[in-house]
Amino acid sequence: MNRNRINIPLKLLYLQGKSPLFRIILNFVFPIMTELKTPDISIIDIDKIRADFPILSDKVNGKPLIYFDNGATSQKPIQVIETITNYYKHQNANIHRGVHTLSQEITVAYENARATVQKHLNALYSHEIIFTSGTTESINLVAHSFAKQFLSNGDEVIVTAMEHHSNILPWQMVCEERGALLKVVPINSDGELILEEYKKLLNKKTKIVAVTHISNTLGTINPVKEIIDLAHAQNIPVLVDGAQAVPHTFVNVQDMDADFYCFSGHKLFGPTGVGVLYGKEKWLNQLPPYKVGGGTIKTVSFERTEYADLPLKFEAGTPHIEGGIGLAVAIDYVNEIGLDKIAAYEHDLLEYATGLLQKTDGVKIIGTAKNKASVISFVVEGLHAFDIGTILDQLGIAVRTGHHCTQPLMTHYCIQGTVRAAFAFYNTKQEIDLFIQGLERAIKMLR
Ligand code: ALA
Repeated sequence: MNRNRINIPLKLLYLQGKSPLFRIILNFVFPIMTELKTPDISIIDIDKIRADFPILSDKVNGKPLIYFDNGATSQKPIQVIETITNYYKHQNANIHRGVHTLSQEITVAYENARATVQKHLNALYSHEIIFTSGTTESINLVAHSFAKQFLSNGDEVIVTAMEHHSNILPWQMVCEERGALLKVVPINSDGELILEEYKKLLNKKTKIVAVTHISNTLGTINPVKEIIDLAHAQNIPVLVDGAQAVPHTFVNVQDMDADFYCFSGHKLFGPTGVGVLYGKEKWLNQLPPYKVGGGTIKTVSFERTEYADLPLKFEAGTPHIEGGIGLAVAIDYVNEIGLDKIAAYEHDLLEYATGLLQKTDGVKIIGTAKNKASVISFVVEGLHAFDIGTILDQLGIAVRTGHHCTQPLMTHYCIQGTVRAAFAFYNTKQEIDLFIQGLERAIKMLR
């Protein structure tokens, strides 16, 4: 039986509200059927998937690599690697600039990649997809261009206490330049946003809200749709930092109604150096270009320049061509597996690892939100995160240690740093067992 596919007949939806029987079906029976929709995680062919990632067969420090640093960057499947080598072997040319065959072919491939991203995010138009160098550049682009156009003395910008520095510093900088104020939504002890406080911060002076979809340190999945709805009720646009969300979950920008959504290719199993800024057409059209140069113009004279339409207005210079086409291959790769299956599989890994860590002497998990992605940060009483990370590395286990570019969050928890294990769909419970054994060994050695 295929338990993953439930088709809702349109007629049923049409009849909603018209027939008491259908109302019962929709309100009571359908939610139960939806529960059954939870994918069977055994559907993930883990051996086949792992075989696609050459690095996972490598040894580090003489031990088989266990890679849990997926929050920093993810590994790449052979399909992405081969796309990039093939580009340099057989396709290399500049885009949007040549009448010759190679240039035209790679221009088509690059624009197809943009369309793949558009479809993946369910954006309305492909020109709402701007290729950038990554999440950091996407956020800087919006912060600087938005501030130039819309931010004045006394205005306010809202961020949250769990933002990555990349979603704090650009806003802090433009607020300082414009005499605006940065307001911060606080979190509770589980690492969840306190929405009541957020509601109190929204006011006539608020010009934009910038919030992370999933915290890179805590794993908290934020209720972005609700956050956006509350801001939109006061005509305030919202930027969502999706760097940690795209590898783990479906993102539907129209459904969430995000005004801007940013992510990096390299965290989504694609190449480094390429990223995406999605922006609603109406907003992108109002923003001035961020970086200017070749490719961003219609006409130039020494008196005045007319800038190009979207998306080229924001894509100065030769872009990361192989990055864009490699990212599209990575997107196709995750869609082939199925993001619903990936999310269910990773949730299982998260619960398994959380259970084992909770039983490990001296370990305290930082970030215990009800709604979490497969990211676990923890501290060990009396021990430094770097020391634990270094011993794990000797065992071939890659974790991230430190403040994870979230120093305000470290201040909130009164800690200097954490050890962070972030799981991807190619990780396994066997790897988690070895990680826990390694951690116990590290704790014994350091005590
Ligand atoms: N932002 C990345 C991380 O959380 C680098 O590790």
